[in-house]
Amino acid sequence: MKLLVTGGAGFIGSNFILYWLKKYPQDKIINLDKLTYAGNLENLKSIEKNPNYEFVQGDICNPQLVNQLTEKTDIIVHFAAESHVDRSILDPAPFIKTNIEGTYVLLESALKNKIKRFHHVSTDEVFGALELNSEEKFNDATPYNPHSPYSASKASSDHLVRAYFDTYELPMTISNCSNNFGPLQFPEKLIPLAITNLIEGKKVPVYGDGLYVRDWLYVEDHCRAIDLILQKGKVGKTYLVGGLTEDIANLDIIKKILKIMGKDEMQIEYVKDRPGHDRRYAVDWSRINKELGWKPEHNFDEYLRITVDWYKNNQEWWKRIKTGEYQKYYEKQYSK
Ligand code: NAD
Ligand code: TYD
Repeated sequence: MKLLVTGGAGFIGSNFILYWLKKYPQDKIINLDKLTYAGNLENLKSIEKNPNYEFVQGDICNPQLVNQLTEKTDIIVHFAAESHVDRSILDPAPFIKTNIEGTYVLLESALKNKIKRFHHVSTDEVFGALELNSEEKFNDATPYNPHSPYSASKASSDHLVRAYFDTYELPMTISNCSNNFGPLQFPEKLIPLAITNLIEGKKVPVYGDGLYVRDWLYVEDHCRAIDLILQKGKVGKTYLVGGLTEDIANLDIIKKILKIMGKDEMQIEYVKDRPGHDRRYAVDWSRINKELGWKPEHNFDEYLRITVDWYKNNQEWWKRIKTGEYQKYYEKQYSK
């Protein structure tokens, strides 16, 4: 099998490539990644000489390049995106370009080259926010109601992917997954930002009252869900993928990290809230469980500890990232 993975130098994409080549060493993977600030080839150092792996630096918005690569491909697994909500609030333009136009370019090429499967990696954020303390979860029937430029651009891409199935019968699947955590996550997202700030002796910025709720999934569980969808998923279907956490507030996650790292709550710094901040996400993943037998296998507390250890043991990886452009972003984002 030949896979074209887009965005494979990012957090989930690189975890996915490492997972896939370990499980299916005979398969061939081309990784198309623009290497934006979020792309990092160090994530894939262990496989860079693997003859079944090829890296191509390029933009998914480039139809010629995408077409050249798609010609050689059976399956596209599409991760490439601008992925950080706060950056989408500061500057939506690259989100519209990559997440919407880039997905369109890939869809056109997939159709032209009669690709066997187009898997689109999306997010639970397209559904908008749930009420705090409600029992409600996102499910297949939840209408789209995105609030940030990031989630609106991902929602648009989901609609485009579905339109290519309904209109042109492109064999596609979509997964809408909750917040991932684990090794190789860029330290702008809550968990790696908190861990690396604490290692550096800095405080952890908590937005608003800190009582925002996300549904958390260890990244390897997400990779396994995509694997199962590719193997056994029904073409044209969307699968919701979520974790084992039961309404855990951001503040409680930070307190867990502080405890693991032997720090006190004086290290929490309340900062100004994110505009349009979605209050609560929760994912009902019962359909993928019933239909494909998937369930999360990594316990949150145990894998949070493992994630803390990974950032402690891989300081060179993130210290290089937390310079230059990152510093400028951090100052802009967190200045009062
Ligand atoms: P990331 O920001 O860590 O990585 C994105 C990758 O895409 C980077 O390597 C970047 O260089 C590449 N990229 C960006 N623009 C590109 C372009 N125009 N052409 C080619 N490559 C480009 O993101 P992530 O957290 O790994 O997320 C991957 C996907 O999973 C995204 O589509 C995201 O919406 C989705 N998702 C993420 C989460 C999460 O918690 N991180 C949860 C659910 C879904
Ligand atoms: P984030 O990791 O950016 O993921 P998303 O916005 O895609 O869910 O944020 C997770 C939660 O943590 C979200 O409610 C925003 C909050 N948050 C903070 O409180 N402080 C921070 O510095 C960051 C980055 C996020």
